[in-house]
Amino acid sequence: SMSEHNSPQPGSTAQSAKGGLEGIVAATTGISKVEGQTGRLIYRGYNIHDLARSTTYEEVAYLLWFGRLPNAQELKQLKEQFAAERTIPEEVMTILEALPAATAPMDALRTAVSAWGAVAIQGTPTIDQAIALTARFPVFLATFERLRKGKKPLTPLAELGHAANYLYMLTGQIPSEEHVRGLNSYLVLLADHGMNASTFTGRIVASTESDIASAVVAAIGALKGPLHGGAPALVQDMLREIGSVENAESWIRNAITSGKKLMGFGHRVYKTTDPRAEELREMARVADPDSFKMARTVEELALAILQELKPGRKLYTNVEYYSAALMASVGLSGDMFTPTFAVSRVAGWTAHILEQVSNNRLIRPEAEYTGPMDLHFVPLEQRS
Ligand code: ACO
Repeated sequence: SMSEHNSPQPGSTAQSAKGGLEGIVAATTGISKVEGQTGRLIYRGYNIHDLARSTTYEEVAYLLWFGRLPNAQELKQLKEQFAAERTIPEEVMTILEALPAATAPMDALRTAVSAWGAVAIQGTPTIDQAIALTARFPVFLATFERLRKGKKPLTPLAELGHAANYLYMLTGQIPSEEHVRGLNSYLVLLADHGMNASTFTGRIVASTESDIASAVVAAIGALKGPLHGGAPALVQDMLREIGSVENAESWIRNAITSGKKLMGFGHRVYKTTDPRAEELREMARVADPDSFKMARTVEELALAILQELKPGRKLYTNVEYYSAALMASVGLSGDMFTPTFAVSRVAGWTAHILEQVSNNRLIRPEAEYTGPMDLHFVPLEQRS
């Protein structure tokens, strides 16, 4: 039986939940479905494997927002709208210029979205705001990336798609088809993922009838942590620290026995390989065979050692593991990995925000109070 402190209040019908809300259904959604036991991911009825191999990010964003794939005319229109939105208001540019060069790009992105919201956003979230925001994410990031390196920001190229223009605005070079394909598939794969922590955060903010920029700023904050989107740079750090294939087994054993978590392994919902990791693994294999070899060896060893040292936990590779290799292969530095995850996920966030708003009820759970009760109040002047 429960202790007195843990009992719900008399008359309350509340159920107590596990610490991490594990297994709790917090919303209904038509946007995406994560099947943790079978390792399936579905966006609006379509299997992620089909989408990753044969769609562009713009098509998938359309699918998430409008609930169906666009026809050629609708896609052309969306691409034109994206291109028209690739601007940074002067006030926001001034703020980006004022940030210290040492600012993490993820923090610069959060700041830019907040500043852009102050300048450009009012009222109830709309689909046009979702498009305007999604189109700007790579523009904010590429602009800050150049500013922090003392380079002049570049003007976007309207004829380039979302992934290609991002790479162009970072480097000033028209990117190779291979890099565009790699980054595009990455952006498709990460665009939505059920009730993940950042999406839930965005929906909570939207449920208070706040604005879309505020909801997205909050979601960026949730994505940043290493238990969510902050892991891929740590995967890269881990592989560097391991250093060589020969060193891998002892390093991994050591890490696990000393209670460390291996970055890029484990997932709250997937109890089998993350389907996105499977796609990214194949892409990383082609993109950079040398670093792939090391990553693959560490993965195979880690899975075997985890099974031995953590039996029954069902630990597999998650999406972040090969994200690091893929993003490095298209030329992104480690601190751009997590904000590039945000470049993708903002389509999902905004689709969820719009879905929340279209059928809103304030999200407001309860807490189980475990503190003391009925203490005798002592006035300040009598406290020792
Ligand atoms: N390495 C070693 N052991 C692990 C790992 C790991 N990466 N992940 C989980 N475990 C172990 C735990 O130590 C725990 O073992 P125990 O039973 O001996 O206590 C058991 O597996 C269950 O783990 P929890 O932490 O309870 O699982 P939870 O669902 O809370 O965590 C999470 C999921 C946060 C992703 C976790 O696996 C983790 O920290 N992984 C490393 C960081 C990472 O890769 N983050 C990216 C997540 S993917 C994404 O957000 C897109």
